Amino acid sequence: MAITQKMQDALNEHTNQELYSSYLYLSMSSYCESINLPGFAHWLRIQSQEEYAHGMKIFDFINDRDGRAILHPIGQPTIEFESIQDVMQKTLEHERHVSSLINKLYEVAVTENDVATQIHLQWFITEQIEEEKTANDLVEQLKLISGQGDALLLLDRELGARSLDPVE
Ligand SMILES: [Fe+2]
Ligand SMILES: [Fe+2]
Repeated sequence: MAITQKMQDALNEHTNQELYSSYLYLSMSSYCESINLPGFAHWLRIQSQEEYAHGMKIFDFINDRDGRAILHPIGQPTIEFESIQDVMQKTLEHERHVSSLINKLYEVAVTENDVATQIHLQWFITEQIEEEKTANDLVEQLKLISGQGDALLLLDRELGARSLDPVE
């Protein structure tokens, strides 16, 4: 069954949100470089690549359903942050926001009787649980560290070891 116009529009909008997420994390990565936290910068750069892959996962899905993936302008991400704590807090808030957008997208798929999209979105719903958990863990770890430079450097080194997992 070909995708409905309403579903296609909602999915195209969400591709844009995932690409915006990619942009936002790349911006955060640059900030982390500027405050000499190369491990966080690396971790966020990988995060940015993952978000790009999420966008492409929807882009491909629309085209596979005989629809047309349409690209919208990507908004400018936040460029200034107060601290690494601020970066991770904004990451957590952003992931919660994306989860709510995916829930709304799922509601559209239900009202459009689009079972294929509902199934496709289940991957994203599961992914968001992981995304929120990871961001929350880092916010909490940074609270524990507070002003201790040696502990922060240790965490930075740990995050520097992240590798890109393929998005299936
Ligand atoms: Fe995502
Ligand atoms: Fe995400």
